[in-house]
Amino acid sequence: MKVPKQLGHANLGLGLGLRTPHFDHILEHRPKVDWFEIISENFMDSQGRPRHVLDQIAEHYPLVMHGVSLSIGSTDPLNLEYLKKLKTLAGEIDAKWVSDHLCWTGVAGQNSHDLLPIPLTEESLKHVIERIHVVQDVMEQAFVFENPSSYVGFTGSTMNEWEFLGRMTEATGCGLLLDVNNVYVSARNHDFDPEEYIRAIPHDRVVQFHLAGHTDCTTHLIDTHDHPVIAEVWALYRLAHELTGGVSTLLEWDANIPPFEELHAEVLKSKRYLQEEGLQGPVVDWEQEACECVPAEEGCVSPHPLHHNTVEVE
Ligand SMILES: [Fe+2]
Repeated sequence: MKVPKQLGHANLGLGLGLRTPHFDHILEHRPKVDWFEIISENFMDSQGRPRHVLDQIAEHYPLVMHGVSLSIGSTDPLNLEYLKKLKTLAGEIDAKWVSDHLCWTGVAGQNSHDLLPIPLTEESLKHVIERIHVVQDVMEQAFVFENPSSYVGFTGSTMNEWEFLGRMTEATGCGLLLDVNNVYVSARNHDFDPEEYIRAIPHDRVVQFHLAGHTDCTTHLIDTHDHPVIAEVWALYRLAHELTGGVSTLLEWDANIPPFEELHAEVLKSKRYLQEEGLQGPVVDWEQEACECVPAEEGCVSPHPLHHNTVEVE
Protein backbone atom coordinates (compact mmCIF):
# COMPACT_ATOMS: atom_id res chain seq x y z
CA MET A 1 0.00 0.00 0.00
CA LYS A 2 1.46 3.36 -1.06
CA VAL A 3 1.19 5.81 1.83
CA PRO A 4 2.83 9.27 1.80
CA LYS A 5 5.65 9.83 4.30
CA GLN A 6 4.25 10.69 7.72
CA LEU A 7 0.84 10.25 6.04
CA GLY A 8 1.42 13.67 4.52
CA HIS A 9 1.17 15.41 7.90
CA ALA A 10 3.39 18.40 8.63
CA ASN A 11 5.60 18.72 11.69
CA LEU A 12 3.57 21.08 13.87
CA GLY A 13 6.37 21.64 16.39
CA LEU A 14 6.09 21.18 20.15
CA GLY A 15 2.56 20.91 21.55
CA LEU A 16 0.76 20.60 24.85
CA GLY A 17 -2.27 18.69 26.06
CA LEU A 18 -5.28 20.97 26.44
CA ARG A 19 -6.56 20.65 30.00
CA THR A 20 -9.59 22.24 31.64
CA PRO A 21 -7.70 24.09 34.44
CA HIS A 22 -5.81 26.00 31.76
CA PHE A 23 -8.77 27.13 29.64
CA ASP A 24 -9.02 30.64 31.06
CA HIS A 25 -5.31 31.27 30.91
CA ILE A 26 -5.07 30.19 27.29
CA LEU A 27 -8.05 32.27 26.24
CA GLU A 28 -6.79 35.32 28.08
CA HIS A 29 -3.07 35.16 27.28
CA ARG A 30 -2.96 33.13 24.10
CA PRO A 31 0.46 31.68 25.03
CA LYS A 32 3.00 30.63 22.45
CA VAL A 33 2.36 26.94 22.03
CA ASP A 34 2.75 25.38 18.59
CA TRP A 35 -0.36 23.21 18.86
CA PHE A 36 -2.67 21.48 21.33
CA GLU A 37 -3.75 17.86 21.68
CA ILE A 38 -7.22 17.29 23.09
CA ILE A 39 -8.67 14.18 24.72
CA SER A 40 -11.44 13.42 22.24
CA GLU A 41 -13.93 12.09 24.80
CA ASN A 42 -13.85 15.32 26.80
CA PHE A 43 -15.48 17.23 23.97
CA MET A 44 -17.48 14.74 21.88
CA ASP A 45 -20.71 14.99 23.86
CA SER A 46 -20.30 18.49 25.17
CA GLN A 47 -21.99 21.49 23.69
CA GLY A 48 -21.36 23.47 26.87
CA ARG A 49 -18.45 25.63 27.94
CA PRO A 50 -15.67 23.13 27.14
CA ARG A 51 -16.86 22.96 23.57
CA HIS A 52 -17.28 26.74 23.38
CA VAL A 53 -13.71 27.19 24.65
CA LEU A 54 -12.42 24.56 22.23
CA ASP A 55 -13.99 26.34 19.28
CA GLN A 56 -12.21 29.55 20.28
CA ILE A 57 -8.89 27.79 20.74
CA ALA A 58 -9.32 26.08 17.37
CA GLU A 59 -9.34 29.52 15.76
CA HIS A 60 -5.80 30.21 16.98
CA TYR A 61 -3.99 26.86 17.30
CA PRO A 62 -3.71 23.65 15.28
CA LEU A 63 -5.47 20.81 17.14
CA VAL A 64 -5.06 17.05 17.08
CA MET A 65 -7.41 14.56 18.75
CA HIS A 66 -6.30 11.76 21.04
CA GLY A 67 -8.86 9.24 22.31
CA VAL A 68 -8.95 6.58 25.00
CA SER A 69 -12.14 4.64 24.19
CA LEU A 70 -11.73 3.08 20.76
CA SER A 71 -10.66 -0.28 22.23
CA ILE A 72 -9.31 -1.51 18.92
CA GLY A 73 -8.11 -4.79 20.44
CA SER A 74 -11.38 -5.78 22.11
CA THR A 75 -13.67 -8.54 20.87
CA ASP A 76 -16.70 -6.34 21.53
CA PRO A 77 -18.16 -4.83 18.34
CA LEU A 78 -16.74 -1.43 17.42
CA ASN A 79 -18.92 1.40 18.67
CA LEU A 80 -20.05 3.01 15.42
CA GLU A 81 -21.90 5.79 17.22
CA TYR A 82 -18.67 6.70 18.96
CA LEU A 83 -16.81 6.72 15.65
CA LYS A 84 -19.41 8.96 14.03
CA LYS A 85 -19.12 11.46 16.88
CA LEU A 86 -15.35 11.32 16.61
CA LYS A 87 -15.55 12.07 12.90
CA THR A 88 -17.99 14.94 13.42
CA LEU A 89 -15.79 16.58 16.06
CA ALA A 90 -12.66 16.13 13.91
CA GLY A 91 -14.40 17.92 11.04
CA GLU A 92 -15.73 20.73 13.21
CA ILE A 93 -12.41 21.63 14.81
CA ASP A 94 -10.33 20.76 11.74
CA ALA A 95 -8.27 18.21 13.68
CA LYS A 96 -5.02 17.49 11.90
CA TRP A 97 -5.32 13.79 12.76
CA VAL A 98 -7.09 11.49 15.22
CA SER A 99 -5.32 8.93 17.39
CA ASP A 100 -5.99 6.29 20.04
CA HIS A 101 -4.03 3.41 21.56
CA LEU A 102 -3.14 -0.11 20.51
CA CYS A 103 -4.97 -1.71 23.41
CA TRP A 104 -8.34 -2.89 24.62
CA THR A 105 -10.27 -1.11 27.36
CA GLY A 106 -13.08 -3.56 28.07
CA VAL A 107 -15.07 -6.58 27.02
CA ALA A 108 -18.69 -7.79 27.21
CA GLY A 109 -19.77 -4.19 27.59
CA GLN A 110 -17.69 -3.66 30.70
CA ASN A 111 -15.18 -0.79 30.72
CA SER A 112 -11.97 -1.41 32.66
CA HIS A 113 -11.03 2.29 32.47
CA ASP A 114 -7.54 1.21 31.59
CA LEU A 115 -5.44 0.74 28.47
CA LEU A 116 -4.85 -3.00 28.52
CA PRO A 117 -2.19 -4.82 26.47
CA ILE A 118 -3.21 -7.20 23.70
CA PRO A 119 -1.69 -10.60 22.94
CA LEU A 120 0.84 -10.18 20.15
CA THR A 121 -0.21 -13.11 17.99
CA GLU A 122 -1.18 -13.71 14.36
CA GLU A 123 -4.81 -14.04 15.43
CA SER A 124 -4.95 -10.73 17.27
CA LEU A 125 -3.02 -8.98 14.48
CA LYS A 126 -5.64 -10.15 11.97
CA HIS A 127 -8.40 -9.05 14.34
CA VAL A 128 -6.91 -5.58 14.85
CA ILE A 129 -6.23 -5.10 11.13
CA GLU A 130 -9.87 -5.91 10.27
CA ARG A 131 -11.09 -3.43 12.84
CA ILE A 132 -8.72 -0.67 11.74
CA HIS A 133 -10.11 -1.02 8.20
CA VAL A 134 -13.61 -0.44 9.59
CA VAL A 135 -12.46 2.54 11.66
CA GLN A 136 -10.75 4.15 8.69
CA ASP A 137 -13.72 3.51 6.41
CA VAL A 138 -16.06 5.26 8.85
CA MET A 139 -13.61 8.09 9.60
CA GLU A 140 -12.65 8.45 5.92
CA GLN A 141 -9.06 9.08 6.95
CA ALA A 142 -6.01 7.18 8.12
CA PHE A 143 -6.15 6.64 11.88
CA VAL A 144 -3.13 6.95 14.17
CA PHE A 145 -2.25 4.43 16.92
CA GLU A 146 -0.06 4.93 19.96
CA ASN A 147 2.17 2.22 21.43
CA PRO A 148 0.97 1.65 25.01
CA SER A 149 3.11 1.30 28.10
CA SER A 150 2.59 -2.11 29.65
CA TYR A 151 3.34 -3.95 32.85
CA VAL A 152 2.37 -7.51 31.92
CA GLY A 153 2.42 -9.46 28.68
CA PHE A 154 0.93 -12.69 27.32
CA THR A 155 2.97 -15.89 27.40
CA GLY A 156 1.17 -16.81 24.17
CA SER A 157 2.59 -13.81 22.28
CA THR A 158 4.56 -14.86 19.21
CA MET A 159 6.02 -11.54 18.07
CA ASN A 160 7.48 -8.32 19.44
CA GLU A 161 5.39 -5.20 19.72
CA TRP A 162 7.49 -3.46 17.08
CA GLU A 163 6.86 -6.28 14.60
CA PHE A 164 3.13 -6.15 15.38
CA LEU A 165 3.07 -2.38 14.77
CA GLY A 166 5.04 -2.68 11.55
CA ARG A 167 2.75 -5.32 10.07
CA MET A 168 -0.34 -3.48 11.31
CA THR A 169 0.65 -0.22 9.60
CA GLU A 170 1.69 -2.03 6.42
CA ALA A 171 -1.66 -3.81 6.12
CA THR A 172 -3.87 -0.83 6.93
CA GLY A 173 -2.01 2.35 5.98
CA CYS A 174 -2.58 3.70 9.48
CA GLY A 175 -0.12 6.03 11.22
CA LEU A 176 1.81 5.69 14.46
CA LEU A 177 2.02 7.91 17.49
CA LEU A 178 5.34 6.90 18.98
CA ASP A 179 5.32 7.48 22.71
CA VAL A 180 9.02 7.46 23.46
CA ASN A 181 8.49 7.29 27.20
CA ASN A 182 6.14 4.31 26.77
CA VAL A 183 8.85 2.48 24.84
CA TYR A 184 11.27 3.14 27.69
CA VAL A 185 8.76 2.13 30.40
CA SER A 186 7.81 -1.11 28.61
CA ALA A 187 11.45 -1.88 27.80
CA ARG A 188 12.37 -1.68 31.48
CA ASN A 189 9.29 -3.66 32.54
CA HIS A 190 9.75 -6.41 29.96
CA ASP A 191 13.52 -6.27 29.64
CA PHE A 192 13.95 -5.47 25.96
CA ASP A 193 16.17 -2.95 24.21
CA PRO A 194 14.25 0.31 23.60
CA GLU A 195 16.67 1.31 20.84
CA GLU A 196 15.95 -1.90 18.95
CA TYR A 197 12.23 -1.08 19.19
CA ILE A 198 12.69 2.45 17.86
CA ARG A 199 15.01 1.33 15.07
CA ALA A 200 12.56 -1.38 13.95
CA ILE A 201 9.27 0.48 13.61
CA PRO A 202 8.32 1.94 10.20
CA HIS A 203 9.65 5.49 10.55
CA ASP A 204 7.73 6.95 7.63
CA ARG A 205 4.45 6.10 9.39
CA VAL A 206 5.23 8.02 12.58
CA VAL A 207 3.21 11.24 12.59
CA GLN A 208 3.59 12.22 16.24
CA PHE A 209 5.75 11.70 19.32
CA HIS A 210 4.72 11.74 22.95
CA LEU A 211 7.21 12.65 25.63
CA ALA A 212 6.45 12.29 29.33
CA GLY A 213 7.87 11.55 32.73
CA HIS A 214 7.28 8.33 34.67
CA THR A 215 7.67 6.95 38.18
CA ASP A 216 10.53 4.58 38.92
CA CYS A 217 9.47 1.95 41.47
CA THR A 218 12.87 0.21 41.05
CA THR A 219 11.32 -3.19 40.26
CA HIS A 220 9.16 -1.62 37.54
CA LEU A 221 8.28 1.72 36.00
CA ILE A 222 4.82 3.29 35.97
CA ASP A 223 3.72 5.65 33.23
CA THR A 224 2.43 8.42 35.49
CA HIS A 225 2.93 11.51 33.30
CA ASP A 226 3.73 13.62 36.34
CA HIS A 227 7.49 14.16 36.13
CA PRO A 228 9.88 15.87 33.74
CA VAL A 229 11.27 13.77 30.91
CA ILE A 230 14.41 11.87 31.99
CA ALA A 231 17.74 11.93 30.14
CA GLU A 232 17.41 8.35 28.83
CA VAL A 233 14.08 9.19 27.22
CA TRP A 234 15.55 12.35 25.67
CA ALA A 235 18.28 10.16 24.18
CA LEU A 236 15.67 7.84 22.67
CA TYR A 237 13.79 10.86 21.40
CA ARG A 238 16.96 12.04 19.65
CA LEU A 239 17.27 8.65 17.95
CA ALA A 240 13.60 8.66 16.94
CA HIS A 241 14.00 12.18 15.60
CA GLU A 242 16.97 11.15 13.47
CA LEU A 243 15.18 8.12 12.08
CA THR A 244 11.90 9.88 11.29
CA GLY A 245 13.27 13.26 10.27
CA GLY A 246 11.31 14.88 13.10
CA VAL A 247 7.56 14.94 13.67
CA SER A 248 5.08 16.83 15.86
CA THR A 249 5.95 16.32 19.51
CA LEU A 250 3.67 16.53 22.52
CA LEU A 251 4.82 16.95 26.09
CA GLU A 252 2.32 14.97 28.19
CA TRP A 253 1.51 16.01 31.73
CA ASP A 254 -1.65 14.39 33.10
CA ALA A 255 -1.28 14.18 36.86
CA ASN A 256 -0.55 16.85 39.44
CA ILE A 257 -1.04 19.29 36.61
CA PRO A 258 0.89 22.45 37.47
CA PRO A 259 -0.39 25.95 36.83
CA PHE A 260 -0.10 26.87 33.18
CA GLU A 261 2.86 29.16 33.79
CA GLU A 262 4.86 26.28 35.29
CA LEU A 263 3.89 23.84 32.58
CA HIS A 264 4.68 26.40 29.95
CA ALA A 265 8.13 26.92 31.46
CA GLU A 266 8.69 23.16 31.11
CA VAL A 267 7.60 23.34 27.47
CA LEU A 268 9.92 26.27 26.85
CA LYS A 269 12.78 24.36 28.44
CA SER A 270 12.05 21.43 26.14
CA LYS A 271 11.75 23.74 23.16
CA ARG A 272 15.13 25.31 23.93
CA TYR A 273 16.68 21.86 24.34
CA LEU A 274 15.28 20.76 20.99
CA GLN A 275 16.50 23.89 19.27
CA GLU A 276 19.96 23.74 20.85
CA GLU A 277 20.25 20.08 19.87
CA GLY A 278 19.12 20.85 16.33
CA LEU A 279 16.06 18.66 16.79
CA GLN A 280 13.48 21.32 15.97
CA GLY A 281 13.64 24.64 14.20
CA PRO A 282 11.73 27.55 15.65
CA VAL A 283 8.15 27.33 14.53
CA VAL A 284 7.24 30.57 16.29
CA ASP A 285 9.29 33.06 18.26
CA TRP A 286 9.43 31.43 21.67
CA GLU A 287 11.60 34.08 23.27
CA GLN A 288 10.43 36.42 25.99
CA GLU A 289 7.81 34.09 27.32
CA ALA A 290 6.20 35.21 30.53
CA CYS A 291 2.62 34.31 31.21
CA GLU A 292 0.90 35.44 34.32
CA CYS A 293 -0.24 32.44 36.19
CA VAL A 294 -3.89 31.61 36.68
CA PRO A 295 -4.17 29.27 39.69
CA ALA A 296 -5.11 25.79 38.54
CA GLU A 297 -7.67 23.66 40.33
CA GLU A 298 -5.91 21.44 42.76
CA GLY A 299 -6.58 17.77 43.27
CA CYS A 300 -8.83 17.55 40.24
CA VAL A 301 -6.79 15.13 38.22
CA SER A 302 -6.15 11.47 38.74
CA PRO A 303 -2.74 10.02 37.82
CA HIS A 304 -4.02 8.19 34.78
CA PRO A 305 -4.83 9.49 31.31
CA LEU A 306 -8.13 7.63 31.39
CA HIS A 307 -9.29 10.18 33.89
CA HIS A 308 -10.05 12.21 30.80
CA ASN A 309 -12.48 9.55 29.68
CA THR A 310 -14.98 11.39 31.85
CA VAL A 311 -16.73 14.04 29.88
CA GLU A 312 -16.40 17.36 31.57
CA VAL A 313 -19.66 19.15 30.91
CA GLU A 314 -20.20 22.53 32.48
FE1 LIG B 1 1.37 8.84 25.33
